[in-house]
Amino acid sequence: MASIFPGLGWILGFSFICSSLFEIYRRHLLYQDPIAKNFIASELYRTAYHFQPTQHWMNDPNAPMYYNGVYHLFYQHNPDAATWTANISWGHSVSADLVHWTGLELALTPSDPFDISGCWSGSATILPGSKPVILYTGLDTVSRQVQNIAYPKNLSDPFLREWIKPRYNPVIEPHGRIDAALFRDPSTAWLGRDGSWRLTVGTVIDGNGLAMLYKSKDFVKWVPAENPLYYTNGSGMWECVDFFPLGEARGVTKYMLKVSMFDVSYDYYALGTYDEEGGVFTRDDASSTDYRTWPMIDYGRVYASKTFLDEAKQRRILWGWSNESNSIADDVAKGWAGIQTVPRVLSLDTDGKRLVQWPIEELESLRGEQIHLQDIELETGSQVEVRGLKVSQADVEVEFELQSLIGAEPFDANWIVDPPKLCREKGAYANHGGIGPFGLLVLAADNLEENTAVYFRVFRAEGSYKVLMCADQRRSSKRSELYKPASGGFVDIDIKKERKISLRTLIDHSVVESFGGGGRTCITSRVYPTILLNDNTHLYAFNYGTETVKISELKAWNMAQAQIS
Ligand code: FRU
Repeated sequence: MASIFPGLGWILGFSFICSSLFEIYRRHLLYQDPIAKNFIASELYRTAYHFQPTQHWMNDPNAPMYYNGVYHLFYQHNPDAATWTANISWGHSVSADLVHWTGLELALTPSDPFDISGCWSGSATILPGSKPVILYTGLDTVSRQVQNIAYPKNLSDPFLREWIKPRYNPVIEPHGRIDAALFRDPSTAWLGRDGSWRLTVGTVIDGNGLAMLYKSKDFVKWVPAENPLYYTNGSGMWECVDFFPLGEARGVTKYMLKVSMFDVSYDYYALGTYDEEGGVFTRDDASSTDYRTWPMIDYGRVYASKTFLDEAKQRRILWGWSNESNSIADDVAKGWAGIQTVPRVLSLDTDGKRLVQWPIEELESLRGEQIHLQDIELETGSQVEVRGLKVSQADVEVEFELQSLIGAEPFDANWIVDPPKLCREKGAYANHGGIGPFGLLVLAADNLEENTAVYFRVFRAEGSYKVLMCADQRRSSKRSELYKPASGGFVDIDIKKERKISLRTLIDHSVVESFGGGGRTCITSRVYPTILLNDNTHLYAFNYGTETVKISELKAWNMAQAQIS
């Protein structure tokens, strides 16, 4: 429609362009100044809808819970600096919807002989009569790792601000062959049919990771069970063990054991059955005892994840710590370090064989303007720009349709053990004569000098197909000193039958969190593109394989800023 004031529109447009250019120029000038540079980096890479405290260091999510209409998230927090300290405290934030958060005073700080050297990770349990309790690891006067209890001081405070540590702490101490420096992170407790509580604590003995099992009738006196809940050979220390029923498959309750493997800094999980009487977990997939064959919660930068049961919506939600990939000096300069993944709903896939993770539906309340594309043929070597979004703060859902699988590259069985290597060697940009790479280039410069590629490749294996998902961060920033790996995992999907694969990518300044195959494989990357400085990032869908791939549908939204104080 012709404007009534064509001149005015032009003037407004021109002045908008001038002020934007001036802002970019101003930032560039400021960027030369070290103090201003730190300030800009701090702001540019702060996340808009991924949880992080207003300043300083954060690592593990602790004791997430839903209590009396309020969601609580505690977290490992150094309230004085952007670096980790053994003498760590518990930060505390509350929310009505898991999206917007209000920060409260510290919930636990080192104060008593049983935690004077640090309040390390732990979990919440809601006791009968609706009484929350926290179990956490304290580092005592000689830095032994002991397990402690804390109760809310005042149950009628809706935010449970103050926590009391009873004098009878610690409730579990290192015993037998357990190394007092490697015994931590009590899980949420669960009640057995015999009326006794159970919980698990991670440790290592002779290089073998263990989930120790403890029992208690009164939640105060805890007795070690005869056998560990589970252990694996040669896996090193287990941190932040989580254990819970995930769902039903063919009338059987499937349990999930999650372990944070200290030696490799990845979270692995296993599905199986739990024999309450014997107190042991048995993995469904007994084909290998090597933990490296277990699936991971996230094949990228996520560690120390923890779940809770959301009674309000009867769903299990996982939080995971996503550490920075820049240097400690960068963290100090930014004044903050560490974010959480978005809360993810966990469910059991319909065949009962794998975990599916998906962002909580509440996140969609931040979705703004939507871009919708349909039926786009991505021919070999092509890329399509998704225009009209502020793509540094967006939610993108795309479905790729494979018209033919004929061109799939043969799969070498040796590749199965090291998907990141395969991602590294095949790369995101080279066409090796197969199906894919196809996917998204996010936080991309217009000449692609900087971009993070999240994509798939399909291979032809013995009697089936293998789908590889990668997040290649090697070009994510021009800064060469950053940690910029190519991450990867396989997607357990019957691509021959489905012929489609979906990708959802949450882009939030310095994080790219992706869910492949409907959430069967997740990869999170921390990236620091210098183009954010110019606010000139692009989003592309691409296909550099030899076979045409169709985008049956692509939806993308600008994401609003969550209120996180
Ligand atoms: C995992 C971890 C936990 C420990 C906490 C200390 O990242 O090492 O095992 O309790 O961090 O901050």
